[in-house]
Amino acid sequence: MKWTGHNIQLSNGDKTLENALLLGESAMWKSIVNSLDLFFPGKKEERKKLRVVDLGCLEGGYAVEFAKLGFDTLGIDAREENIQKCNYVKSDLGLTNLNFVKDDVRNLASYGKFDIVLCYGLLYHLNDPIAFLKTISNCTNKLLFLNTHYATERDVRYRLGPLNKHLFGPFQAKTKFLEFTKNYCLGPITSHEGYRGRWFKEYKKNASAGKIEKMLWASYNNDKSFWLCKKDLTLALHEVKFNSVFEQFNYTGDMYTHDFSYYYSRSMFVGVKH
Ligand SMILES: C[S@@+](CC[C@H](N)C(=O)[O-])C[C@H]1O[C@@H](n2cnc3c(N)ncnc32)[C@H](O)[C@@H]1O
Repeated sequence: MKWTGHNIQLSNGDKTLENALLLGESAMWKSIVNSLDLFFPGKKEERKKLRVVDLGCLEGGYAVEFAKLGFDTLGIDAREENIQKCNYVKSDLGLTNLNFVKDDVRNLASYGKFDIVLCYGLLYHLNDPIAFLKTISNCTNKLLFLNTHYATERDVRYRLGPLNKHLFGPFQAKTKFLEFTKNYCLGPITSHEGYRGRWFKEYKKNASAGKIEKMLWASYNNDKSFWLCKKDLTLALHEVKFNSVFEQFNYTGDMYTHDFSYYYSRSMFVGVKH
């Protein structure tokens, strides 16, 4: 099996990725633990009664860490290859409170309610982010961890259309010339599901099912995704009934450059119901 993102320590001490930080030791994971300790300060015994879902769980790294803390954890991912890796790790580590299902995350409601929802690296792969935030909210008792890209509000590059996609974008990717924020070759600002954002092309409309299956990190049932503007994202989070929405900053740790959030137009949000 070839791992692509999550470095997990197996029972014999081997790691799923060479020369990479273990996910359980990353600033990304430690920042989640910080907030867990704040909102769920209980002992492992109390955590056993709490349900967690990891949406678009990839190779199961985050789900494993939640299960190790005692939470009753479910990981959902659309791709067979990802789920096979998740189940391999689950059985290797013998975590009985950890389960995985192969499904589109849009079917989340079929799995009941959760105390904690982890939505990392997924929202910006959906073409219906607002509908999905509503689904998430209906399934969340208390806490949402959301790590996502958002669309920049003003960006002249995205008015250039094909010129940016085929010329300026690739040029900036190579040279970093005037690239203060990463050029994702998004579309112009538009409104979708009542909120502002920009479209991102995931793959060709006619891409084969086999090809999509092999794009282990990409969207699943949509060839383009809608990136909300940051303001619209936070408005929507409130609108779907998270009473408080916070932004958490220590997730980048020293893993990334100082301006990570700004450059990548990405952040970690915490939605709380109370
Ligand atoms: C960029 S990866 C992020 C993985 C992981 N959450 C993380 O942050 O490291 C996106 C993941 O979401 C999954 N995914 C994308 N669209 C999905 C959908 N509609 N339903 C279920 N999984 C999906 C992909 O297969 C992939 O594992």
